[in-house]
Amino acid sequence: MGKVDVVLGSFYGDEGKGKIIDYLGGKADVALRATGGNNAGHSIEVDSEKYVFHLIPSGILNKGTLAIIGNGVVIDPKVLIEEINSLKSKGKDVSNLRISTKAHVIFPYHIEMDKMLEENRGSKKIGTTVRGIGPCYCDKYERCGIRIEDLYSSHFKDLLTRNVENKNKIFAINNYPQLDVDKIYSEYLEYSKIIKEYVCDTTVLIHKLLKEDKKIICEGAQATLLDIDFGSYPYVTSSNPTIGGIITGSGINAHDIGEVYGVMKAYSSRVGAGPYVTEQDNEIGDKIRELGHEYGATTKRPRRCGYLDLVALKYAVLVNGITALCINHLDTIGKLDKIKLCVAYERDGKKTEEFTTNEDELLRSTAVYEEFKGNFGDISKIRKRCDLPKNALKYIERIEEYVGVPIKFIGVGAKREEMICEVE
Ligand code: IMP
Repeated sequence: MGKVDVVLGSFYGDEGKGKIIDYLGGKADVALRATGGNNAGHSIEVDSEKYVFHLIPSGILNKGTLAIIGNGVVIDPKVLIEEINSLKSKGKDVSNLRISTKAHVIFPYHIEMDKMLEENRGSKKIGTTVRGIGPCYCDKYERCGIRIEDLYSSHFKDLLTRNVENKNKIFAINNYPQLDVDKIYSEYLEYSKIIKEYVCDTTVLIHKLLKEDKKIICEGAQATLLDIDFGSYPYVTSSNPTIGGIITGSGINAHDIGEVYGVMKAYSSRVGAGPYVTEQDNEIGDKIRELGHEYGATTKRPRRCGYLDLVALKYAVLVNGITALCINHLDTIGKLDKIKLCVAYERDGKKTEEFTTNEDELLRSTAVYEEFKGNFGDISKIRKRCDLPKNALKYIERIEEYVGVPIKFIGVGAKREEMICEVE
């Protein structure tokens, strides 16, 4: 039986999963997305052509790789079609795309609702990407959501009418404009025709492929601390970007999972609001932001930056069963004179190595740091771990020792090939 290797974010997203996926994808028969929606985004440069992905697994760029969007993903068909057209315009073949019949669809009322709810939160904003992700997942769990297969059913208009009427009542109370059901219906009918050729039962397909011994790489979106259950609630996304979400979002079972790669940066960053124990809201954070180009791929927002938090990393390892770590931006952190690693939290006069997602506890926690020497010099040409300078080795060895998981990928520069890989 084939196995599913999974690539997950270990912290707050934007760890550079795309670079690892890009490397592993070349060796896979299937690229799979199981969670989130177009709140995610990463860009890949191939043969000096830039590709930006929000929904389609980037593995589609590898000739012959099947790209599957699983049932756990929420799909804005307008964005999906833009992505399909953009790939086609660059001469890429998209006939290998498959979309789950069970994935939920994002409608304009989800996006309006996301906007309205954020406004209503006042000073307690989550800082969502305003792509309608949360409201779409809300409808899924409320059981009034519209799935891809419903777009082709005789009850689609009724379902849509009920939803638009209900949402319009809420919009009216909030002085938000009313939405026109007929306009949305005809727009989505057009979308449904365009994507029809890609729609199938992806769970059946995945199990058939696994039986044929095909190798699947699952491209995680968002990250552990943005998980609706295991993240820093309420400053999280509305899905499970952790390992459980990969299972429920695709229909693979626990036995199908092979390697679980946890992606991280040599420092940390966060978009949006919420507690962040190792944040450097000072000149160090500004320096990391500039050196690492820490601005959102989807929203262009400047990211909050800080030191690496090993307390949180150990938690991510436990929650996901991470078997290998991928550390990006070692070159970036190596440009600082001094680097710090958070090895414990101090709270209410006590030291602890246990992570918490409790907002009050996190806000009362301060980081206990170990200090390391920086100034790694230019490491971008290094391709073997043993050739790294002593200071860099000391830093990554301490991370491995603390969490008990080997680092198998080390990003030493922005380019695709600027990477040390220790996997066959
Ligand atoms: P939502 O997913 O748009 O509802 O946003 C909820 C929170 O998750 C916000 O803080 C977003 O900034 C954050 N978020 C969602 N997707 C990503 C991502 O791909 N990278 C980093 N942060 C994200």
